[in-house]
Amino acid sequence: MRKTVLFLGTLLAFSLTAMADEGMWLPSLISQRIGDMQAKGFRLTAEDVYSVNQASLKDAVVLFGSGCTGELVSDEGLLLTNHHCGYSYIQRHSSVEHDYLKDGFWAMDRNGELPNKGLTVSFLERMDEVTDLVLKGYREGMGEAQRDSVVRVNSTRLANEASDPSRGLTAQVEALFYGNQYYLFVFKVFRDVRLVGAPPSSIGKFGGDTDNWMWPRHTGDFSMFRVYADKNNNPADYSPDNVPYRPKKFFKISRAGVQEGDFTFVYGCPGSTQEYVMSDQVRYVSEVSDPQKIALRTQRLDIQKKYMSQSQAVRIQYSSKNANVSNAWKKWQGEEKGIRRMQTVAKKQAYEQRFKEWAKGTRYEGVVEQLGEIYARRNPTYLAYEYYNETARAVELLQFASAIQTRLRAGTSTNDLIDSFFKDYYQPIDEEIFVAMMTSFDQHVPDHFKPVWFKEQLAAFGSVEACKDYLYSHSLFTDRAKVEALTTDDLGKVDQDPACLAAASFAQWYSEDLAPVIRATAAELRVANRLYMQGQMEFEKDRTFYPDANLTLRVAYGQVAGYEPYDAAYYRPVSTLKGIIEKDNPDIFDYNIPQVLRDVYAEGGHDDQPVCFLATNHTTGGNSGSPVINADGNLIGINFDRVWEGTMSDIAYDPAICRNISLDIRYLLFVVDQIGHASYLFDEMSFVD
Ligand code: ARG
Ligand code: GLU
Repeated sequence: MRKTVLFLGTLLAFSLTAMADEGMWLPSLISQRIGDMQAKGFRLTAEDVYSVNQASLKDAVVLFGSGCTGELVSDEGLLLTNHHCGYSYIQRHSSVEHDYLKDGFWAMDRNGELPNKGLTVSFLERMDEVTDLVLKGYREGMGEAQRDSVVRVNSTRLANEASDPSRGLTAQVEALFYGNQYYLFVFKVFRDVRLVGAPPSSIGKFGGDTDNWMWPRHTGDFSMFRVYADKNNNPADYSPDNVPYRPKKFFKISRAGVQEGDFTFVYGCPGSTQEYVMSDQVRYVSEVSDPQKIALRTQRLDIQKKYMSQSQAVRIQYSSKNANVSNAWKKWQGEEKGIRRMQTVAKKQAYEQRFKEWAKGTRYEGVVEQLGEIYARRNPTYLAYEYYNETARAVELLQFASAIQTRLRAGTSTNDLIDSFFKDYYQPIDEEIFVAMMTSFDQHVPDHFKPVWFKEQLAAFGSVEACKDYLYSHSLFTDRAKVEALTTDDLGKVDQDPACLAAASFAQWYSEDLAPVIRATAAELRVANRLYMQGQMEFEKDRTFYPDANLTLRVAYGQVAGYEPYDAAYYRPVSTLKGIIEKDNPDIFDYNIPQVLRDVYAEGGHDDQPVCFLATNHTTGGNSGSPVINADGNLIGINFDRVWEGTMSDIAYDPAICRNISLDIRYLLFVVDQIGHASYLFDEMSFVD
């Protein structure tokens, strides 16, 4: 009997998992999902999630900067996001005397909180469907150019009407479902956002790129800010007279912890997905683009790592660059593999077959074939463009030379650029990357696509190696003193510098040979994808579609769950401090924890301190920093990553493998208290237990 119950329980758990937790839902339409959410354990109502009439959870969620999410956790404007989202601000406040990246930072009172020029947080005031208003004046049969202009004019007018700069309100119209729907989003944008606290990087970035996109994970990826407002609680530029913002809503914190199977819900701003594209595009991404970009980046990373392992100074110079190159490199590997494993191309082809049958005699007849034809025409050019990005534009000297040239032309100062370039430039790495990238470019880009200039240079010098020798010994841009001495009067000389010539020839090739094709096919794709999307929505009448991510606020719900990364292995969904101690190694930069953490651990009793957990919420880049919420709407974690085996969820979601990774809120509390000795911050938070 017990066995049967257990068996049924397992079966139920599995069928729940199989019931896809796919989807990034529009908060204003959450009433369409609330039944399903409640069936899966959610105990709040649609109005609690999103409402324009009363305070709701949406009022505690913000777009942090321009690519992350954050959440309010006190009625005095205290905000949580990821360490990697606050990183550049923490870095800007750091110096040799106060290295907040290395040592962490805790404002010991409000006066110690640090302002951040340029940082904004945006609260969504409301979102309204405005499709009819945006298309007003457009009639079936008008051309695309006319449609575009109608959409542009109406969108601008709607956005202007909804904006009110004096109250900090901005608005924009966004296309959803490839322009089958339009929504107006109205935001209140706060401009005085101050740094309150950040753990040392050895906690906030623990595991570094070694563990990035991976499980088991032990990163304390959080930082704390505070939103300030004027005396009337409205957005204002930084002023010492500003006061902490009193939000309409903030998250209460649950310390009850997570169990496998618990309902979870992520509220945030996912950046970009393409769930409805046809098979040819999926094939291009997974069989052509991803593998070739991965191969190019593998070479770059290997070159960087070789020199980084030989010198501590070079390691510091290149750690951030290396992290940037490595982040997408690792993601693409998961994406490529995941699409292959899910057989997404074949499944989409089968779907397209059924769609074509159904579409016969309708306005959708031929649209799939048309998309295939446009992709076929676009892809060779698009691939050349991707090669350009990953090769010529990966050479630091060329990028630097053309940036200086641009500044000189504009007559603006070059000092900051020169400083930041030479501080982190190690020429042997750049030279080797030049040779590797240009050799790959030569081998893989078809001859008729190559810039004429490139072919001439190669013929004249005889080899990429010889081109490199000439470039790096003749360009003035390798010599700091020479670059510093440049004035606008030297533009003639600058324009003839081999680094500028190289960068300019590639840029010209891009804008003359590639960009026109890419732009024209993008316009065609927009139209065809709009029709195909509309067709899919009619073809599958009973399916509830969610729009592709576009950095607008979304809800993703699911449950805490482990997964099987490969045969015979099962990953449990919760990691603990014990795992940090297991990884701790003073000789490995990514795993060298602060001594204070070792000391706290040595006191005993912290083995089971939770650190991170996995769940099935459908997230993507931009969801970093998003609140992870339990069935009662209380904060249990902060989203910061996905497992790499599931990164194909940007194109196809697999409930068995796709997992988002969150920081357990209890680890944040532990670090603030035990490492930061800043537990006074808890006084303004609300705990539900
Ligand atoms: N993979 C995460 C994201 O896509 C974290 C990136 C930052 N961390 C790092 N180790 N590079 O943004
Ligand atoms: N780290 C990502 C971000 O910065 C989130 C990971 C993902 O792509 O899901 O948004």
